[in-house]
Amino acid sequence: MRQACFFSYSKFLAALVALFAFSQAPAQIPDKFTNLQILDKDSNRAQVVGQMRMFAGALGVRCNHCHLGENAATLEGFDFASDEKEAKRIARLMMKMVQDINSNHLGGIGRAEHLKVNCVSCHRGLTKPQSLRDAMLKKVDAEGVEAAERHYRSLRESYYGRASYDFGAGTLNNVSETLARQENDLDSALAMIRLNIEFHPESAYSHVIQARILMAKNDPDGAVSSLKRAMEIEPGNQFYEGMLKRIQNRRQQ
Ligand code: HEC
Ligand code: HEC
Repeated sequence: MRQACFFSYSKFLAALVALFAFSQAPAQIPDKFTNLQILDKDSNRAQVVGQMRMFAGALGVRCNHCHLGENAATLEGFDFASDEKEAKRIARLMMKMVQDINSNHLGGIGRAEHLKVNCVSCHRGLTKPQSLRDAMLKKVDAEGVEAAERHYRSLRESYYGRASYDFGAGTLNNVSETLARQENDLDSALAMIRLNIEFHPESAYSHVIQARILMAKNDPDGAVSSLKRAMEIEPGNQFYEGMLKRIQNRRQQ
């Protein structure tokens, strides 16, 4: 009994030491700071390093994204005070923006307690925080639908299960509808909805979008089989039934 007790106590001590070592900043980070313009000039090392780790995590980068230095693993020879990197200068603007949002805008809601915005509210682990929808539409425009499809697959590989991008069915449904409606690009719209159905075969509405695109491409047989698939997934949906009737009537004319 005593033995067991001693054992767990030493384990506890080891965990405590590990925790302490973990929260300590590497020796390469100085104690005195010479170029703090937004953070409190009297901030101590733990406060500055805590903020910096938060920045790095929110943007999905390491210290060298904003600071001059070669080896991000050891931080050897880093010049943290330098403002040479553009990303550091942008980060200062972002810090001011966040302060302004929190005090002047969210504060203006007039509640005694209000939630606060922080870097991660927008960045979600990305340096350039954009939605998956916007990223896809931009890619189709710039490099074509095949490049966009490869891009989706590779983003999904890296980010699925994280907060960065929404890989739910809604995203490519919207991309596909936007390409069809606003850009009248039916081929790209069809490629995007097929990609969506590959990952979300049970999304009834994706099959309905596919049916609409196929109708517009003059493929009523394809449209009917897409709609029937949607109706298998959601039996009794009157909207889908009505659509199927309209297509069948049109075919008989
Ligand atoms: C997104 C950009 C960004 C990242 C990533 C970043 N920093 Fe910073 N860092 C800044 C900005 C901006 C300042 C200046 C803040 C100010 O003016 O109050 C700063 C200041 C510092 C300072 C104070 C320098 C001085 O003497 O004034 C240190 C030390 C520092 N960062 C260390 C780190 C470390 C260590 C990491 C990685 C864990 C890191 N930073 C990651 C943007 C960044
Ligand atoms: C309201 C949303 C929002 C918040 C909050 C926000 N950012 Fe940003 N940030 C953006 C957007 C949008 C861009 C892309 C700007 C562009 O490329 O034109 C960006 C770009 C950046 C960049 C440039 C990235 C690069 O290297 O290309 C840095 C650095 C950055 N933000 C740091 C921060 C830090 C640090 C915080 C928290 C203090 C923060 N941001 C909070 C929206 C935000």
